Amino acid sequence: MSGVTLNQAIKRYGDVQVIHGVDLEIDNGEFCVFVGPSGCGKSTLLRMIAGLEETSDGEIHIGARDVTHIDASERGVAMVFQTYALYPHMSVEENMGFGLKMNGHPKAEIQAKVGEASRILQLDDYLKRKPKALSGGQRQRVAIGRAIVRGPEVFLFDEPLSNLDAELRVDMRVEIARLHKEIGATMIYVTHDQVEAMTLADKIVVLRAGRIEQVGSPMELYNNPDNKFVAGFIGSPSMNFLKGIVQGGKVIVPSLGAREIVTSVALPSEGSTVLVGIRPQHLGIKTGDGAAVLDLRERLGGVSYDYLIAGNGEKIIVENREEDTLPEGCSVIVSFDDENCMFFDAKTEKRLR
Ligand SMILES: Nc1ncnc2c1ncn2[C@@H]1O[C@H](COP(=O)(O)OP(=O)(O)O)[C@@H](O)[C@H]1O
Ligand SMILES: [Mg+2]
Repeated sequence: MSGVTLNQAIKRYGDVQVIHGVDLEIDNGEFCVFVGPSGCGKSTLLRMIAGLEETSDGEIHIGARDVTHIDASERGVAMVFQTYALYPHMSVEENMGFGLKMNGHPKAEIQAKVGEASRILQLDDYLKRKPKALSGGQRQRVAIGRAIVRGPEVFLFDEPLSNLDAELRVDMRVEIARLHKEIGATMIYVTHDQVEAMTLADKIVVLRAGRIEQVGSPMELYNNPDNKFVAGFIGSPSMNFLKGIVQGGKVIVPSLGAREIVTSVALPSEGSTVLVGIRPQHLGIKTGDGAAVLDLRERLGGVSYDYLIAGNGEKIIVENREEDTLPEGCSVIVSFDDENCMFFDAKTEKRLR
């Protein structure tokens, strides 16, 4: 097993640069998730590591080896795609063993490795079936099994759960976490789903437009985001961002009836605009002649989300765990502790600390 290191990795398609000098270190045995919105370069970066895309500039190391210009088949990686890419005319067993068979491995060895993968993935009852007689989740397990059988140093997953329905996604997510625990190999996993990132990752890499915005453990990114993008991307529902004005060493929030926030962070000059970030669970509401209106309540059972419209039209989401409900359309007072606010520069969107 091996870690993966990227040094100023760059990808250009003709004149267009899509990956802009990425530096990254993924430790041996780590579960690393690349997350970010569609088109930010997650797949491209993963495919560069796999050797399926040429790296235009910079270096990629797997373990001690510089693999930047080494063929995909020589890199010791196995990739699992969103579309399972199984051979329709082969059984589950044949699909999983095909790579080894092509490389001339002995039959007994192939059987042992397929048997082991099948045990890990609970596919024993399906080994003789063809892919068309399997559910989506089972097909994806076969695709993962095919990767396991190859015994790679690094597993690469590109949105492997995107074709599954919501319930199955949760099941498979748990299975992938279990798989990582059991085999302990380095895994790099691409998703646009921040919940998958939070639940699976040892290390999350947040990407935006071909650049790394921040790297850290799930809770580091959640509790200590460097900028508005990461703060808004990690956590569900998203952090609220309200306009604030620096006044007399405090931050005034016009949309909440000029609520004053006391903070020890280094604020910009008097009169500057900042963004005040508050997570939905740090907000509370009660009836009263406040500056906000409860527009809509979404009930999920154990938790509800209250969608408010504040004074100047700013939207606010409040997480609510109480049964008693305020009527939609009523005027509310929004409360929060000053210490639960984060502040961001309105222009650069960098966190003020
Ligand atoms: N073959 C290609 N030629 C030109 N641009 C490409 C090509 N493949 C991907 N891109 C561009 O690279 C960017 C990153 O794409 P991709 O890595 O697929 O994003 P993600 O996986 O995060 O959705 C996108 O802007 C996409 O349009
Ligand atoms: Mg992609």
